[in-house]
Amino acid sequence: MDTIVVLDFGGQYCHLIARRIRDLGVYSEILPFDIDINKLKNKGPKAIILSGGPSSVYEEGSPQLPKEFYDYIKNKRIPILGICYGLHLIIHQLGGEIQSHAEKEYGKTELEVVNPNLLFESLNKKEIVWMSHGDQVKEMPKGFKILAKTKTCPIAAYSNEELQIYGVQFHPEVVHTPKGNIILDNFITQIAQAKKEWKLEDWIERTINGIKTVVGGDNRVILGLSGGVDSSVAAALIHKAIGDRLHSIFVNNGVLRKNEENEVQKTFGEELNFKNFHYVDAEKLFMDRLKGVVDPEEKRKIIGHTFIEVFEQKTIELEKQHPDIKFLAQGTIYPDRVETSATSDASARIKSHHNLTLPEDMTLEIIEPLKDLYKDEVRKIGVKLGVPEEIINRHPFPGPGLAVRIIGAIDKEKLDILREADEILINEIKKAGIYNQLWQAFCVFLPLKTVGIMGDHRTYDYICAIRVVESLDAMTANFAKLEMELLEKISTRIINEVKGINRVVYDISNKPPSTIEYE
Ligand code: XMP
Repeated sequence: MDTIVVLDFGGQYCHLIARRIRDLGVYSEILPFDIDINKLKNKGPKAIILSGGPSSVYEEGSPQLPKEFYDYIKNKRIPILGICYGLHLIIHQLGGEIQSHAEKEYGKTELEVVNPNLLFESLNKKEIVWMSHGDQVKEMPKGFKILAKTKTCPIAAYSNEELQIYGVQFHPEVVHTPKGNIILDNFITQIAQAKKEWKLEDWIERTINGIKTVVGGDNRVILGLSGGVDSSVAAALIHKAIGDRLHSIFVNNGVLRKNEENEVQKTFGEELNFKNFHYVDAEKLFMDRLKGVVDPEEKRKIIGHTFIEVFEQKTIELEKQHPDIKFLAQGTIYPDRVETSATSDASARIKSHHNLTLPEDMTLEIIEPLKDLYKDEVRKIGVKLGVPEEIINRHPFPGPGLAVRIIGAIDKEKLDILREADEILINEIKKAGIYNQLWQAFCVFLPLKTVGIMGDHRTYDYICAIRVVESLDAMTANFAKLEMELLEKISTRIINEVKGINRVVYDISNKPPSTIEYE
């Protein structure tokens, strides 16, 4: 299949470039800029995009490409598109000059196309683009020509048609460049002539056949099903391939949302008709181990380790009945595996929360059918496989669940209070028709008591904080500016209906500096 490689120079939009290309129908993968040249050659890219990045090309130690890279693209006539840092790098390495510019350009800017060309085909002479740079091209090497300029950036795009190298100073991958998709499409289809072969229907068929071949006709697969999007879609896919030779294990760890264990059982056990759906009720074990634990990382550790223990025990029990269990499936998705240079710190941290390492003596072979997909692709596949909408569009929920939404030590009473409040919040958010626009909406239990008045009685009860955020990837998030009437309705209902809470506060912090969760 035709592949467009995105070389990662640490730009925060690296994943976005690959996603846009895939949305346009061509398979795209991210590779580190310093990848071994032979590995790059093995991918046989139809074109290569050099991403943006935070460095300056003239700084010592800034990421650069080896000479063999340029030899390779020249010999194979592989089209290149440099974006921001990528645009600078090509000029810098091929003998031109980049310099820091007094006027930094940031945000929406008007671009003027000065030379009609394939990259900007079907664009107007003037278009809005999104810029974010301090450096700019001062002098270009021989063979390069200017394609576009802005008020403060005389070389905002260039081409070298002989070498098939293109560069844009702005970011075509972000939504703030309204015609960005057309530019990327021109690059992949007009310039690189890539075939649009990346279709999710084909992917499903290929993957199902692949799973059948790998697992074979008799072997069985186990999978930890959390009810989240990734593990649910992985389960649905594997179930399509091998039917009830898939054993899904769902562990009730006692820190789930209200009715979650029943809903997941109903969806998979009844609606999707998984004969080998195994429900393990380990609530008591988790509660005993979490008793009195205050430190959030300690809570995470206990929940993670206990989960593995319970999961392992159940697997051993199943293996006794079915010695042909040979595979362990996981719902790992592409961003879990590929940390771009820009996000590696943060994504490594998020990953460590939920990608649990299984014991080394588990000799099962791992299968990860979603490992090359982005979340939105996983969702689309889930829909095609008949996974219910409530699961597909469900907000992310942390592995340690409600344990990190109760500050300090947890117990069943606090958990039940939180569950009731959370259910009301989600209910009202859904009724208001805004659930799918929000990244996450949840209640947090603050173990602080304040005075209230109910009828003729003085109350002394807990505080519930409401956290509702909008985000694209959880790296940054804004608190949602919900209507006051809606907030009032939620607060009134929680205080009236949930015994134990007499005060509701709305969290108005953005990430950064605050995180989404409280612990
Ligand atoms: P923060 O709180 O770091 O959260 O802004 C970013 C995203 O990660 C989720 N999150 C977790 N997910 N285990 C998980 O599986 C965890 O321990 C965990 N902590 C945070 C959080 O819900 C948000 O979507």
